Amino acid sequence: MANTTRAWHLKSRPSGMPAAENFELKEAPLPDLGEGMVRVRNSWLSVDPYMRSRMNDVKSYVPSFKVGEPMDGGAVGKVVESRSPHLREGETVFHMQGWREEAVGPAGQFNKVPPIAVEDHQWLGNLGLTGATAYFGLLRIAEAKEGDVVFVSAAAGAVGSAVVQIAKAKGMTVIGAAGGEEKVAWVRELGADHAIDYKAGPVVQALTRAAPDGIDVYFDNVGGDHLDAAFAAARQNARFAICGMIDSYNGGEPPAFRYIMRVIAARIMIKGFIYTHFLPQIGDFYRDMGQWVASGEVKSRETVRDGLEAMPEAFLDLFRGANIGKMLVKL
Ligand SMILES: NC(=O)c1ccc[n+]([C@@H]2O[C@H](COP(=O)([O-])OP(=O)(O)OC[C@H]3O[C@@H](n4cnc5c(N)ncnc54)[C@H](OP(=O)(O)O)[C@@H]3O)[C@@H](O)[C@H]2O)c1
Repeated sequence: MANTTRAWHLKSRPSGMPAAENFELKEAPLPDLGEGMVRVRNSWLSVDPYMRSRMNDVKSYVPSFKVGEPMDGGAVGKVVESRSPHLREGETVFHMQGWREEAVGPAGQFNKVPPIAVEDHQWLGNLGLTGATAYFGLLRIAEAKEGDVVFVSAAAGAVGSAVVQIAKAKGMTVIGAAGGEEKVAWVRELGADHAIDYKAGPVVQALTRAAPDGIDVYFDNVGGDHLDAAFAAARQNARFAICGMIDSYNGGEPPAFRYIMRVIAARIMIKGFIYTHFLPQIGDFYRDMGQWVASGEVKSRETVRDGLEAMPEAFLDLFRGANIGKMLVKL
């Protein structure tokens, strides 16, 4: 057994789009296992857009990465050594010590996977953070219901593809926007009634064509021109769940909102959210999503990169739109 392990560290803070030189892969001795602690060998690592804001030195809902320190994030692995009665060797866990080969810590930092028969990587996708974000954002924040017309941006991504499928499972009409023909074709395959290629022309025009009578719900992953198009298309009492604004994560020109005044006349309800708010209700999500995934009603797709070395590029590729479905790194 090797007595060293590797982890990605934040080397410097980026301005604008990050680059390879902002990250550094370092090897360090494996820490000793104290009483009550476990050691986990990671098999799947998650890269997520929210990690971009953690590279900045700003106060937010998750702490910033520190320069010179290891980075972290979602991961799935197996317990390889345990000094805790709560976790046995060989058990599969998901946890937040990603960006590294091995995770060491008190057993309470690691969650046993619930008894749902899915492949391990799904605990980072449709049965993990991105699936739960889609579920609670659509059903609890936007209060979307059968018969609603739902517009979702970044619809071929991890959260967006789950939103499309949950909305269809609940009897809604769905319009998804994504970049490029391949993604648009997949969004249709997921059951969306209309799919917009936002790279082929202005979103606002495409949305007006797809929803001539307007939309009841907008699930925002992008911000910018997609959010503005949703303002333009909103019906009376439309509900907007603001999940993410990836359009602005790397800075650039602030977005201009031509149609924002429709918030007043259409009485739009706009609510931002962080999925962790719903952790006390996670059982509802496992019950419904577990069934949908098991029955094949919700499909999962991943873009997988191989090896720890691939982490920074996999992460940067989220901002280049290189992923279809959930972007993951397999160790
Ligand atoms: N509030 C929460 O609790 C929470 C939790 C998880 C995620 N989120 C947010 O949800 C959103 C989606 O996250 P995800 O993990 O599912 O990522 P993802 O959608 O799987 O990957 C990001 C996708 O965003 C699109 N994109 C990138 N830059 C863009 C731009 N400038 N304009 C338009 N589209 C762009 C790309 O797709 P195209 O090729 O289609 O452009 C890319 O594939 C993000 O905004 C994220 O921050 C929020």
